[in-house]
Amino acid sequence: MDGVVVNGLIKRYGSGSRAVTALDGVSFEIAAGEFTVILGPSGSGKSTLLNILGGMDNADGGSAVVFGKDVTACNSRELVSYRRRDLGFVFQFYNLMPNLTARENVAIARCEGSMDENEALEEVGLSERGNNFPSRLSGGEQQRVAIARAIVKKPPLLLCDEPTGALDSKTGQKIIALLKKLQKNYGMTILLVTHNAKLADVADRVIVLSDGKIVGNSRNEHPAEAGEISW
Ligand SMILES: Nc1ncnc2c1ncn2[C@@H]1O[C@H](COP(=O)(O)OP(=O)(O)OP(=O)(O)O)[C@@H](O)[C@H]1O
Ligand SMILES: [Mg+2]
Repeated sequence: MDGVVVNGLIKRYGSGSRAVTALDGVSFEIAAGEFTVILGPSGSGKSTLLNILGGMDNADGGSAVVFGKDVTACNSRELVSYRRRDLGFVFQFYNLMPNLTARENVAIARCEGSMDENEALEEVGLSERGNNFPSRLSGGEQQRVAIARAIVKKPPLLLCDEPTGALDSKTGQKIIALLKKLQKNYGMTILLVTHNAKLADVADRVIVLSDGKIVGNSRNEHPAEAGEISW
């Protein structure tokens, strides 16, 4: 299948009586081009799942096949090229380089065949702010720079961990609208982790985690637009 196929994924932290099972046999499939929201309370394993899919953490069992590549079977060198070429990552706290301008923050993520940094900034509506340093931008603008940085290489998969968690509801709504636009314009497959259940309405697919297990997996036949959700 040309999307994301996760099968019996297991992740444990620590050992002995201190051991925590963060993912306890997680299985699901996501089609290419789908916008998936992953919901669940704090500690349910959402970030752990995203980090494994993003090749930033290893699994203790099961598999995670992303566009035909089993990331749990990759060596570290393969993971470096996977993260560099196939993935965009957006975090709650933006993780921009403070001493680089918005444009430079986007430019450092470019690779072969990627868009121009100005094109990526235009895509997120920040063409005019490229010369600003992050400290001179609002939270929403900083997140848009982070999204421009994540999409400049046109990755087939965009992983977002609480991208609206630090933003007010109106700004958060704009970020969701932007992600929906990118899904449409580039056919990007998007996985968005949040504990905000309201965001489920905009997704094509909603996966719910609890205590490291899947407790819900459903498809929205008519996903809402970002402007239609009440926070
Ligand atoms: N590096 C680590 N070392 C030890 N335990 C960890 C580590 N990372 C996560 N855990 C544990 O694994 C479980 C799942 O954590 P995870 O961060 O995936 O949850 P989450 O759903 O993202 O939570 P939140 O909504 O608070 O971000 C938790 O019990 C957490 O304490
Ligand atoms: Mg988390």
